[in-house]
Amino acid sequence: MKIAPSILASNFKNLQEDIKKIEEVADIVHLDIMDGHFVPNISFGFPIIKAVRELTTLPLDAHLMIEKPENYIDRFIDYGVDMISVHIEGNYHIHRLIYSIKKRDKKAGVAINPGTNISLIYPIIKDVDFILIMSVNPGFSGQNFIDSSLEKIENVVKIKKEENLNFEIEVDGGLNFEIGKRLKEIGCDILVFGDFFFRNFNESKIFMRNLK
Ligand code: DX5
Ligand code: ZN
Repeated sequence: MKIAPSILASNFKNLQEDIKKIEEVADIVHLDIMDGHFVPNISFGFPIIKAVRELTTLPLDAHLMIEKPENYIDRFIDYGVDMISVHIEGNYHIHRLIYSIKKRDKKAGVAINPGTNISLIYPIIKDVDFILIMSVNPGFSGQNFIDSSLEKIENVVKIKKEENLNFEIEVDGGLNFEIGKRLKEIGCDILVFGDFFFRNFNESKIFMRNLK
């Protein structure tokens, strides 16, 4: 079980301190990249990624919520990102996109929104290193977990077992202690915590150590 706090919910006035908090308990730093087109919000880009890369040796996981991700894959990798997820929605050449990440020896993931049918990812399920299942509508930190995501997550776990596949399952959005425990029991591999992690850091520390 890996924990991936999202710096979207961190205090950018004190990013260094927040990265230290992440390093105390977590395994991965989750970077939410938003362009104001794919989602109705703009987050941050390369200058922040550069700073984060200089502040930690933890793997960086870029979750791309942007249009035309194919134009930026190489730059994200040049800036030191280790894992990249691209959304199934709107990316017509998803297979090519996945292989443009793998070609550079980085982990390639496909992300899927709460309202998207899981069958859309079947054609590339054997090609990806991880599947990022969104449990909120992407765009903002601090939203409530959408309960119907659990069924989707359980289905993906089932397919993974039945077909003996190796991809990791990452869940992103609205997680807290209770949901985190449940997701571990179901068989998820990477849990993204944003708002909850930074708001309850001391309790999170204990909880996450136990969870792992
Ligand atoms: C939403 C992002 C998530 C989110 C997680 O678009 O992909 O990573 O910020 O944060 P919380 O845990 O605050 O929902
Ligand atoms: Zn995310």
